[in-house]
Amino acid sequence: MKMVVRNVYLSDGMLVTKSRYGSHYGEKVFDGFREWIPWRSKLAAMILKGYTIDFRGEEIILYLGAASGTTLSHLADIIDEGFIYAVEYSAKPFEKLLELARERTNIIPLLFDASKPWKYSGIVEKVDFIYQDIAQKNQVDILERNTEFFLKEGGEILIMVKARSIDSTAEPEEVFDNVLKRIESRFEILKHGNLEPYHKDHLFVHAKLF
Ligand SMILES: C[S@@+](CC[C@H](N)C(=O)[O-])C[C@H]1O[C@@H](n2cnc3c(N)ncnc32)[C@H](O)[C@@H]1O
Repeated sequence: MKMVVRNVYLSDGMLVTKSRYGSHYGEKVFDGFREWIPWRSKLAAMILKGYTIDFRGEEIILYLGAASGTTLSHLADIIDEGFIYAVEYSAKPFEKLLELARERTNIIPLLFDASKPWKYSGIVEKVDFIYQDIAQKNQVDILERNTEFFLKEGGEILIMVKARSIDSTAEPEEVFDNVLKRIESRFEILKHGNLEPYHKDHLFVHAKLF
């Protein structure tokens, strides 16, 4: 088994996280590890494509668009000494997210609209990192608003962009160029790239606040 990044390993080509918890979304569990399926998680796809983020494990993270907690469950394995504020506005996936948060001590579930950060600003403190995967037309606006409210100076973001959600008629490259220009105006871009073959027409952007 080869270590990739804190609590993340490659086992015979399979990405896994070290975990003391059971299966959350049908992934295999064996000997204290959980399979991390790249077709189900953009973060897993990014890591399998060779780009990793050196989490220390004690960060405070704001996760926007946590859905039912697939990726969140693995991020919570990695950030085992920190905690994650997980925002989701859709009640159905939130039920499953609540189940996850009940068994984990490092997830704070928040049923809120991420485009209105002032509504949860009394709960969420300043964070080291914002992870955003919400597939919305205005997702960069939402990222900027949350950055203003919550991101510490020098903090980092990782945003997953779905071209068709932003503009279903434009070429993905054109959409991605516009997104990168906007992010560049406030952040130093550390890395960006696509998530093929796991997720078509998606871009990840990892950046640091100036
Ligand atoms: C692509 S899914 C997220 C998948 C999840 N990040 C994972 O990897 O396990 C996008 C989620 O963002 C949520 N979402 C979209 N707009 C939102 C908003 N304004 N506020 C909160 N959640 C939002 C959707 O309800 C959906 O569950």
